[in-house]
Amino acid sequence: MNWVVPLSDVQFDSDEISAVTAVLESGWLTMGAITAEFEKEFMAFTGAKHTLAVSNATVALHMACLGLNIGPGDEVIVPSLTFVATANAVRYTGATPVFADIKSENDLTLSLQSIERAFTPRTKALMVMHYGGYPCDMPRILAWAKAQNLPVIEDAAHAAGSFLDGKHLGTFGTAGCFSFFSNKNLSTGEGGMLVTDDDALADRFRLLRSHGMTSLTWDRHQGHAWSYDVVTTGYNYRIDEIRSALGRVQLAKLEANNARRRELISLYREMLAECCPSIAVPFAGHPGVSAGHIMPVLLPRGTDRLEFMEGMKAHGIQTSIHYPPVHTFTAYKENAIGADRLPVTDEVAAREVTLPLYPTLTDAQVKLVVEAARDSLGA
Ligand SMILES: Cc1ncc(COP(=O)(O)O)c(C=O)c1O
Repeated sequence: MNWVVPLSDVQFDSDEISAVTAVLESGWLTMGAITAEFEKEFMAFTGAKHTLAVSNATVALHMACLGLNIGPGDEVIVPSLTFVATANAVRYTGATPVFADIKSENDLTLSLQSIERAFTPRTKALMVMHYGGYPCDMPRILAWAKAQNLPVIEDAAHAAGSFLDGKHLGTFGTAGCFSFFSNKNLSTGEGGMLVTDDDALADRFRLLRSHGMTSLTWDRHQGHAWSYDVVTTGYNYRIDEIRSALGRVQLAKLEANNARRRELISLYREMLAECCPSIAVPFAGHPGVSAGHIMPVLLPRGTDRLEFMEGMKAHGIQTSIHYPPVHTFTAYKENAIGADRLPVTDEVAAREVTLPLYPTLTDAQVKLVVEAARDSLGA
């Protein structure tokens, strides 16, 4: 489909092409020096003590669960209004995701009250997700988790370049998991970063990332090691040099791109308020600095969402839904613990539509989208 305004777009230019070309010309493609540089730069950017570049955020979430020894019989509290990977990562370990509700129609992040209700003696961890890069209420959530002696994993897939009180999201809890999927603010096609301030956990993550081996191919290539031991059942969750090279260039552009995203969100807010006041725009007045990953809106109650999205499509505007809630999927609904306690998630998920947002979107395109929204509402 040739969209007039697509939902998202990558922003690559000669910088990315040169960086990737340099890797190809170097002849070394698997995880090595470029990845180490990318990790260092991500460390400086986020302030995390340890950063491990990995294949994607899903494996970062899996590693975070494994690192915390989550397994069969354990429960992990998760949002349902998230991408399914958040809950799947818990299931990979044999543990059970327990769903908690979001705060309100304005704040789509986890509600502490609902987290408290989901807590049982089997709860082994809490996994929060910073929807759209908007911070969860980390001070209150962390204080509560500390009182229960519960580690907090941050699904920071949307949050590269998001801050709360000057601290980068993903660095508040025990481990943070970032995504560099194509539609993300920092895009490498597939890719992710696992961060932690815990030295022992970081050591364990390094083993889990590469088959539980005590040395890497890169170490042996450099003559630092001849052989290796395998000390745990690990995985191949590595990134490669091509993606790390892309990631370094994208990271350098991230702040400027995120600033443009935030500018566009403000413009959307203004134009929607004027042109379609019945459409609600969540996260008004939200604390912190969001990466502005997506542009969610809530349609007026009673609107036929599919009809609205078809209307947008007829104008050449691509829209999406973030998210069909996890507890409603076939693979989850039979045993979705907590599914009966998600009234706000159910309400928001039924009315949410995501509008196009990416740094190269123009003000004129925002106007097009907003006018198309007005027409599609039948206003
Ligand atoms: C909230 C959330 N969690 C996890 C993921 C998984 O990320 P990845 O595609 O890098 O595995 C995504 C990606 O779409 C996401 O949006």
